[in-house]
Amino acid sequence: MNILGIVGSLRKDSVHKQVFNHYKEIAKNQFELSEGSIVDIPMYDGENMDNAAVVKLAEQIRKADGVIFFSPEYNYSIPGSLKNALDYLSRVDPQPFVGKPAAIIGASPGAVGSARMQYHLRQVGVFLDIDFMNKPEVMISGVFSKLADGRITDATTVEFLEVHSKAFEAFVKKHN
Ligand SMILES: Cc1cc2nc3c(=O)[nH]c(=O)nc-3n(C[C@H](O)[C@H](O)[C@H](O)COP(=O)(O)O)c2cc1C
Repeated sequence: MNILGIVGSLRKDSVHKQVFNHYKEIAKNQFELSEGSIVDIPMYDGENMDNAAVVKLAEQIRKADGVIFFSPEYNYSIPGSLKNALDYLSRVDPQPFVGKPAAIIGASPGAVGSARMQYHLRQVGVFLDIDFMNKPEVMISGVFSKLADGRITDATTVEFLEVHSKAFEAFVKKHN
C-alpha cells in the first residue's frame, strides 16, 4: 500500500516534516509513506495548468492509495501555501483527490494541536470529494517538548501514531 504524505509547512526546520519522517518509520509495517511536495507550487493565477510541480503532485495523488496531510495551523486555519496547492489541484482535470481516502496529522506548540486547521481542511475536503477518516484524530499539543533530533520522544504520542497508522491502513483497505 502506497500512501502520499503532504507536508503543509515550507519551513526548513518544520516540526511537521519531523513528524512526517518519524511517522514514516512508525507506519512501515502498515504502508509505504512517500512525500508529495508543495514547495515548488506557484500561486494559482488560472493560467499555467501545465506547471511541472502541480502536474507531478496531481499524478502522485492519483497513484497513491491514500493521502495524509501533515500540517500546522496558521492563524486558526490552513496555511496559505497548502490552501493554494489545494486550490491549484482542484482545477486539474481529472481532479486528483476525488474519492481519495485521507487523514490529517497536526501539531502545535500550544494546547490545541492544530484542531482548528483540521476542521477547515475537512471542510475544503467536502468540495474536493476527499474521503477523510473521522477518527482517530491526531492533534499533538506542546510539540516542541515532544521532539528531539528530528524524532518524537514522547512515548504516548508514538503509541498513538501506531494506532493511527493501523486505523488508516484499515480505512484505506475498505476503499479497495
Ligand atoms: C503565520 C503563523 C501563524 C500561526 N498561527 C498559529 C495558530 O493559529 N495556532 C497555532 O496553534 N499555532 C500557530 N502558529 C505556530 C505554529 O503552530 C508553529 O510555528 C509550528 O511550528 C508551525 O509548524 P512547522 O514547524 O511545521 O512549520 C503560527 C505560526 C505562524 C508562522
